Amino acid sequence: MRILITGARGQLGTDLQRSLTDHELIPCTRDELDVTEKHRVYALLKDHRPDAVINAAAYHRVDECESHPDKTFTVNAFGPWHLAMACRMYAAKLVHISTNFVFDGTADRPYREDDLPLPLNVYGTAKLSGEHLVRSTWDRHFIIRTTGLFGHSGGGGKGYNFVEAMIRAGMERREVVVVSDQVMSPTATADLARTLGELVTTDTYGTYHVTSGGACSYFDFARTIFQKTGIETAVKPTSTESYGAPAARPLYTVLDNGRIRSLGIAEMPPWEDALDDYLARRAGHGEEAIGRIP
Ligand SMILES: NC(=O)c1ccc[n+]([C@@H]2O[C@H](COP(=O)([O-])OP(=O)(O)OC[C@H]3O[C@@H](n4cnc5c(N)ncnc54)[C@H](OP(=O)(O)O)[C@@H]3O)[C@@H](O)[C@H]2O)c1
Repeated sequence: MRILITGARGQLGTDLQRSLTDHELIPCTRDELDVTEKHRVYALLKDHRPDAVINAAAYHRVDECESHPDKTFTVNAFGPWHLAMACRMYAAKLVHISTNFVFDGTADRPYREDDLPLPLNVYGTAKLSGEHLVRSTWDRHFIIRTTGLFGHSGGGGKGYNFVEAMIRAGMERREVVVVSDQVMSPTATADLARTLGELVTTDTYGTYHVTSGGACSYFDFARTIFQKTGIETAVKPTSTESYGAPAARPLYTVLDNGRIRSLGIAEMPPWEDALDDYLARRAGHGEEAIGRIP
């Protein structure tokens, strides 16, 4: 297949390029394709005629989004809408990446694909709008909700990924304070990219939850990162309320990967194994290699 990837410099965009080697790829950084530029989106699809587009572009600095709703909607809602309209015009499948932040986090079991979304912040509202605009524009879509991504590009758009942020903090401080009441599944973009590679070759369109296996709080995630890297910094738990970030966060956003299971696609490895692989690769390449495609 010929697959155009947006947000190609990001964590997922980078791992899609590493993973989808059986396909002809057209990776587009923001400089090459800004998804908010409708005419450019059409022009690129017209020129390249991809069989599929994977939209890994997003503006997701969640706290910043609260005070920049116009930009948040332009990138996360209208961007995917332009892509869906262009995909419809040129008959390309669209894989659009969404988020656990479409849910309010009050569930007492993992969220299923058909559970009612109810976002708590501007970012989640814009991402949910993007989902609706994709769904209502073009049937041949896959909407993929995922959580807590970590990948070797280092999370350029967001400014960090949690693993790198903790390692840096652990090397600089004696103690870090991390919320213990937000529970999700840390998810490796390397594994997510492989699953997307399988899904995109099918015609089983719709909404999917795709995460690494298992779940934990950010506090547990931080403790595990320190244990596995031998960093001796203490981790102190706090609550989301005490932490007092500008954007409200959903507390429990574990996603049931039921539809992926029902297709017979292999479930992704547990997050602890994915973290081992991430750290091994990090050690193998040296920190300076992170952020570049080998
Ligand atoms: N990271 C998470 O924890 C998380 C959790 C759940 C869902 N998601 C979703 O997963 C997807 C991938 O996330 P990620 O962590 O791989 O993100 P990322 O590393 O921040 O990459 C996002 C990329 O999008 C690019 N971008 C920003 N605005 C753009 C625009 N207007 N047009 C084209 N490209 C643009 C950025 O370009 P620059 O490099 O030039 O800034 C960046 O390379 C996103 O849809 C995100 O909402 C992420």
